[in-house]
Amino acid sequence: MINTLKNSPALLDFMDKLNAEKQRLLDVQVRDMFEQDKDRFNKFSIRNEGVLFDYSKNRIDEQSISVLIDMAKASRLEEMRDAMFSGERVNTTENRAALHTALRNKSDEPVMFEGKDVIPDVKAGLAKMTTFANAVRDGSYKVTGGAITDVVNIGIGGSDLGPRMATQSLREFNDGPRLHFVANSDATDLDDILEYIKPQTTLFIVASKSFTTAETMLNARNAKRWVEDAIGKENAGIHFCALSTNLEATKAFGIEDERTFGFWDWVGGRYSIWSAIGLSLMISIGPEDFDKFLGGAYSADQHFKNAPLDQNIPVMMALLGVWYRNVWGFQTQAVMPYDSRMSRFPAWLQQLDMESNGKSVLKSNEQTQLDTGPIIFGEVGTNGQHAFYQLIHQGTVIIPCDFLLATTGYGGQENRNMLISNCLAQTQALMMGRTLEEANGNPHRVFEGNRPSNTFLYKEVTPHVLGMLMAFYEHKVFIQGVLWGINSFDQWGVELGKELLHTIEPMLEEGNSHKAQNSSTQGLLDAIHEMKNS
Ligand code: F6P
Repeated sequence: MINTLKNSPALLDFMDKLNAEKQRLLDVQVRDMFEQDKDRFNKFSIRNEGVLFDYSKNRIDEQSISVLIDMAKASRLEEMRDAMFSGERVNTTENRAALHTALRNKSDEPVMFEGKDVIPDVKAGLAKMTTFANAVRDGSYKVTGGAITDVVNIGIGGSDLGPRMATQSLREFNDGPRLHFVANSDATDLDDILEYIKPQTTLFIVASKSFTTAETMLNARNAKRWVEDAIGKENAGIHFCALSTNLEATKAFGIEDERTFGFWDWVGGRYSIWSAIGLSLMISIGPEDFDKFLGGAYSADQHFKNAPLDQNIPVMMALLGVWYRNVWGFQTQAVMPYDSRMSRFPAWLQQLDMESNGKSVLKSNEQTQLDTGPIIFGEVGTNGQHAFYQLIHQGTVIIPCDFLLATTGYGGQENRNMLISNCLAQTQALMMGRTLEEANGNPHRVFEGNRPSNTFLYKEVTPHVLGMLMAFYEHKVFIQGVLWGINSFDQWGVELGKELLHTIEPMLEEGNSHKAQNSSTQGLLDAIHEMKNS
């Protein structure tokens, strides 16, 4: 059993050494390091099952990497990794395990939690999803108007971002009904979809781990009313299924157990796509491809567990992140998939990274002395190039970037080559820059260069590749949590807003005499009443 409370970060003890490394590299240009070492690309790139991770365009050399690796070892990273995989309660503030890796475990090894192998339950859950997904896809699951033509996933946060992003990214593999996603409590989110689907042939998936999330429950009630109004109360039930750990609440909502897909409290919301929360994706791409998606994540898990630290993709991703965040003081990290269908990847990563590591209290209950999670943002390429890349190239802040690039995919070679060339041109420009001399003496056309980026390269965005990429990012986030000494698996920062919502909602009622806690909120409430009545 590990002692997770004794967790003051070793990173603090390494700050002098790491700062000395930064000083040594301060005036070194990455482009010069490529000149001096013809093998730099090979040295600083790692492959795993068709995915290449190139991190050679960073401000690093072998010596700085070795200090970072020593820091990771001193942080007991390997011990913490094994604790997570083996079902220890690494989520200390909620006293839970974080066993999402068990959901994609393809080995015959048992995964024990509290003395019980969880794999048989995981397999039973998958089998139930598979039977249902197949029936929806082949039309044998009949609703009022016959076979299902449209599926609407109602959920938010982890119950939306992963399934929505993966379903859109894998649209090429969609050979089932049309998929739609509703998250926001703004009525337009649901109504804009209801406008062009038919209640008689629609299946609603209410996806909520807690089955109490206000936005999701409101949307689910509205969807139910819409179906009931069209086809009557008695027939509405078969148009709904539920994905949740709260089986009492799903029943109370009126969803039969046979259409309720459960999972476990050791699956965090933002890690839940591998569980029943992935049902929408499974219905879209089919159980076989969903299995390949799980297989890609399993491959990343195996790589994380077995590859030496300096040949380990998520370890290097995490160490580079800490290097820039804590040593160089870069606050932001951008992610740019050169793939239109991956447009929700940055949003998915924002929740994964910022909800996990946007923390300032250590597992030891002390205030952190180190900066923690970065600000994540991003946009698909090439669109972002024509929007905010100007700042990334010539602005006064430095933003390390991850570029994601497929060599083939939808469309003809002309389109693909334009994507590839643009992506490589950007990473080259960021790293090489352009000197005053190269810019013919025009200072406005100078690029200082030395701006860091990683590139993920793969043949195509397949279920296997996407699963692997997502799991690499999950592990990167976990590793950084370990290095910073924080608990990446809770999300107390979103709870206060949820509580306050319930105190403010009644104040919106006309004539309600409750006063807000402060005069700013009260001033806004008064103005809201005034504008509503004007
Ligand atoms: O946004 C906070 C959060 O608690 C996320 O962690 C979670 O993914 C989301 O709400 C949705 O929660 P649920 O699946 O319980 O509806």
